Amino acid sequence: MTDIRTLGEFIVEKQNDFPHASGELSSLLGSIKLAAKIVNREINKAGLADITGSVGKENVQGEEQQKLDLYANDKFKAALEARDQVCGIASEEEDQAVSFNRQVNRDAKYVVLMDPLDGSSNIDVNVSVGTIFSIYRRISPVGSPATDADFLQPGHLQVAAGYVIYGSSTMLVYTTGNGVHGFTYDPSLGVFCLSHENMQIPEDGHIYSINEGNYIRFPLGIKKYLKYCQECVPQDNRPYTSRYIGSLVADFHRNLLKGGIYLYPSTATYPNGKLRLLYECNPMALLIEQAGGRATDGQQRILDLIPTELHQRVPFLVGSTNMVNKVEAFLHEGD
Ligand code: AHG
Ligand code: MN
Ligand code: MN
Ligand code: MN
Repeated sequence: MTDIRTLGEFIVEKQNDFPHASGELSSLLGSIKLAAKIVNREINKAGLADITGSVGKENVQGEEQQKLDLYANDKFKAALEARDQVCGIASEEEDQAVSFNRQVNRDAKYVVLMDPLDGSSNIDVNVSVGTIFSIYRRISPVGSPATDADFLQPGHLQVAAGYVIYGSSTMLVYTTGNGVHGFTYDPSLGVFCLSHENMQIPEDGHIYSINEGNYIRFPLGIKKYLKYCQECVPQDNRPYTSRYIGSLVADFHRNLLKGGIYLYPSTATYPNGKLRLLYECNPMALLIEQAGGRATDGQQRILDLIPTELHQRVPFLVGSTNMVNKVEAFLHEGD
């Protein structure tokens, strides 16, 4: 009993490691923790309540919005607005960035970007979904409304990032730039308990995760890499195992624990890939680098990309260092 460490305790304990040490970030992560519990409760009864299915509208990126997309968006937004640390948010489900109106929010130092419900297509079939978040210090003056520039910062300037996975158990995994730590939710206590301290991804892996249905539309380097994964070379652990859930959070989480690579390259349908730089790729890239892995768009480190628009998409290759190096080599063949 005495060695249970809750997320709240852990954050306070680690707050002095944080470069801008203050209770503010602890309080901000507290808002995320609270919203995650509320969303978790709703997801757990998804089959019982009338909360699955679409709302009959599309988001600004042309995706059909699910009821739980909007529910999660509202809960995270409300939790972040209710405390005094965040001046605004940007979300996959909001057309534009939202600047909070209260003066206490305008006086706040941080902005949050989020994918409130990742893996929407998996809600109705009881498969793991998640929430992804990314936190920056604002660059506009404290006291004024948040501006677009606050949200369009390169990923290496994130002060914290993380995700919640609503899976066979619910976990919150985060980094403030000092390692990656995972907490498992104990529903009977209503607390997240430290279960995975200092997570590190194996340098080599043998799982590859990609929507192979798009094969015909992939760049040649990706096609060659997939064939490499499938070749029979037992001393090299090949053929690798293919695993694809279709929720980035769940695919990423498995690969983080076991070693592997997740790929969402450009395709003919999605020339810039499908995943969003600000809500999906940057936070996952910070986590993977903190865990000893790599994230690239095939040409550049994800965390170095300079965002130009809120809902920007980029090709995304993320995971074990040696696997990312290998796929890059195939992409650069013939350069
Ligand atoms: P979201 O549900 O937040 O829109 O994200 C969906 C993303 C990601 O979670 C997943 O890995 C990917 O879309 C799956 O895309 P495909 O169905 O094209 O494979
Ligand atoms: Mn979506
Ligand atoms: Mn998503
Ligand atoms: Mn989403």
